[in-house]
Amino acid sequence: MFADLKRLSHHAAWRRQLEMLLESTGEGIYGIDLRGRCIFINGPGAAMLGYTPDEVVGRNMHYLIHHSHPDRTLMPVHECRIFKAFREGRGERVDDEVLWRRDGSCFAAQYASYPIRDGQTVVGAVVTFSDISERKQMERALQATQALLERRVQERTARLQSAHDSLRRLSAHLSTLREQERAHIARDIHDELGASFTALQLDLAWLRGQLPGQPALLAHLDRMMEVTRTAMGATRRILNDLRPVVLDHLGLWAALESLLQDLQSRSALDCRYVCPADTERCRLGREAEIAVYRIVQELLTNVQRHAQARSVSMQVRLQGRDLVLSVEDDGVGMQVQAQPHTFGILGMRERARSIGGDLVLDSQPGAGTRARLVLSGVA
Ligand SMILES: Nc1ncnc2c1ncn2[C@@H]1O[C@H](COP(=O)(O)OP(=O)(O)O)[C@@H](O)[C@H]1O
Ligand SMILES: [Mg+2]
Repeated sequence: MFADLKRLSHHAAWRRQLEMLLESTGEGIYGIDLRGRCIFINGPGAAMLGYTPDEVVGRNMHYLIHHSHPDRTLMPVHECRIFKAFREGRGERVDDEVLWRRDGSCFAAQYASYPIRDGQTVVGAVVTFSDISERKQMERALQATQALLERRVQERTARLQSAHDSLRRLSAHLSTLREQERAHIARDIHDELGASFTALQLDLAWLRGQLPGQPALLAHLDRMMEVTRTAMGATRRILNDLRPVVLDHLGLWAALESLLQDLQSRSALDCRYVCPADTERCRLGREAEIAVYRIVQELLTNVQRHAQARSVSMQVRLQGRDLVLSVEDDGVGMQVQAQPHTFGILGMRERARSIGGDLVLDSQPGAGTRARLVLSGVA
């Protein structure tokens, strides 16, 4: 088409080609002089604005098609970025404004405005523009979808969180109920069985006094008294397990020590307990003390059942305002699960959370196990 540009450019055919190009493009193209008046507009551009080219030529383009913002507030001519092109002698690209049609409607437009130079002098500007309403609409739809999605995710997260909170509250509530139930059963056992055992013991003692010189019967009676004593001991242990009275009488720290002493006397484990005096004075409140006691009970049961350890040590210390209790064994260890699914560990975690604490297990197969219970801000 443009085989020999030099010769062609002086030819009428060249101008014809230019005309064809301008009229065939999908973009609007117009030129303005320094006063902003239209010196040329192509057919597609005029049509996009609802005019014929003849109707536009000579008109001030700012007042004709660019006079207002999308919200219909006026755009003063000194703010017009199309005019900037020749005021500042450089190009300007814009895609966040609208152009106005003859019928008073507007469309989202993208335009580029460049100065027209005659040698060194700027004599006007050439503007290309296109209708980007569809693109804008798609962008808006996309944004709306994104916002909707985000809202949905937020709503779902909130629902999950609230379900989680409810479960946690339920779990804490069940814990309290269980403790109350245990206390209730303990009271019943204590009152009913305790009184009966005492009466039985007294009667057996009285009977013993009535049977002098009957060694066979006396031996029998002694065995009965021994059985009664054993049953009383067992009952006391069960009672203590149901409701750790030592917690009420001696406080948490002594109660924990007695748990370790029990373990030591029942097993071959070497048990150690470290609790500095300043920590010993720290009281946590009845609820929290029961929770800590139950957690330690479960930790020690686990050591006994799973660890095959030679020694276990418990340390309580204050770290700033936090209380840190750790139970450490030198047993077989385990692979710690990020999300525990066994009830012992789950229960301990929940108990810890219900009193505002956190339980962390640290273990490797073959490297022992350390549990750390941290209660923040209690001291
Ligand atoms: N101190 C420990 N040493 C070794 N393994 C342990 C220890 N504590 C817990 N485990 C392992 O973690 C598992 C889960 O413990 P837990 O939730 O208390 O359930 P359970 O004691 O009923 O098996 C145990 O089965 C055991 O394999
Ligand atoms: Mg367990």
